[in-house]
Amino acid sequence: MIPSVLFVCLGNICRSPLAEAAFREEARRLKLEVVVDSAGTGGWHVGEPPDPRAQAVARRNGVDISALRARQVKPADFRRFTHVVALDDDNLANLRRLAPADATAELSLLLDHVEGREGQPVADPYFGDDDGFDLTWTDVTVGARSLAQKLRRND
Ligand code: 4NP
Repeated sequence: MIPSVLFVCLGNICRSPLAEAAFREEARRLKLEVVVDSAGTGGWHVGEPPDPRAQAVARRNGVDISALRARQVKPADFRRFTHVVALDDDNLANLRRLAPADATAELSLLLDHVEGREGQPVADPYFGDDDGFDLTWTDVTVGARSLAQKLRRND
């Protein structure tokens, strides 16, 4: 079965679009066939492109995320995706609440996939300065790399 991964943050305009982009790049490098998407637990930014600061950090790292549009997590996501990956604990807790009884997706925290960083959040950069987005990119890249390697090994 082809793995499918949904990355989830709060607004789907900063962290999860960057995680989606970093993971897609990593999967391409590893020649891993995978379905990737992202969503937010909140609905404030539905239909919007990623935050300009997120678009800028992606561009600095060679990835164009300008065509992505924010959407909110829905019950069907818990059946459609094999993996639903939260960017922080608050969003993971909300996902556990939102998951329908027949959910099949495996829920996790992105940095749980990184040895030595289990339980750590990818900090919300929205209310901070531009440097925060560089840290976000670093964190989601490390997480995406570990997750892609795990999926390739099939564990
Ligand atoms: P994200 O960042 O969850 O990484 O997309 C945020 C985006 C918007 C808001 C908070 C965090 N907001 O409060 O609107």
